[in-house]
Amino acid sequence: MRKIFAVALTGLVIAALTIRVSHIQTAGGSVAGPQFTADGKLVRPEGYRRWVFVSSGLGMSYSQKASDDMQMFTNVFVNPASYDYFLAHGTWPDKTIFVLELYGSTSQGSINKHGNYQTGFMGLDVEVKDEKRFADKWAYYGFNSNEKTASPNTPGKNDCWQCHDQNAAVEHSFVQFYPELLKVAREKGTIKPTVHLEDKK
Ligand code: HEC
Repeated sequence: MRKIFAVALTGLVIAALTIRVSHIQTAGGSVAGPQFTADGKLVRPEGYRRWVFVSSGLGMSYSQKASDDMQMFTNVFVNPASYDYFLAHGTWPDKTIFVLELYGSTSQGSINKHGNYQTGFMGLDVEVKDEKRFADKWAYYGFNSNEKTASPNTPGKNDCWQCHDQNAAVEHSFVQFYPELLKVAREKGTIKPTVHLEDKK
């Protein structure tokens, strides 16, 4: 009798541990922060659709080469632990990872007559803060629809890095375009003094 009880108890403990482990792995997506391969490539953050949705943009152009053929939607996500840290401090902790999805857009389809909605996936831009790995703290990556790993867009202070460094409101993140995060940054006083926002409310 005692033995059966012990076996049952062990089973329960194992079941509880399994649930706990799978909970840790899936909480907020499968990845807690940036994951790198042994040769320093960034692993595609597969679980990001379960992270915190930051905001979206339509047809925002930050590339000189942008054509006006089709306006693209951008959807921005950040890993949940960094989001929580931002709410508390108004800054981004080490190992923050942002994902910017690009989607095509259209206006005519199904019952829709006006306004725009998202269509096909066009690519992922990723931004990582890793103070030990990168001398310049932030690094930038692009993934097409199939790529599982990506090398940084020319390491160091490349175009991505420079534009984000000069123009982003909080560290390298464009919080001026994310209204809920902007409230937090204003409250915590973490907007860079060099960045001038039109709306100073
Ligand atoms: C000329 C300026 C400029 C350049 C160059 C640029 N970005 Fe951005 N980036 C922006 C702006 C503006 C936003 C916010 C608006 C949006 O959602 O598109 C943004 C947003 C992002 C975000 C969402 C998180 C955040 O920082 O706000 C990621 C990720 C990102 N960019 C990655 C990249 C990558 C990768 C490159 C290089 C291949 C790049 N960017 C080059 C201006 C730039």
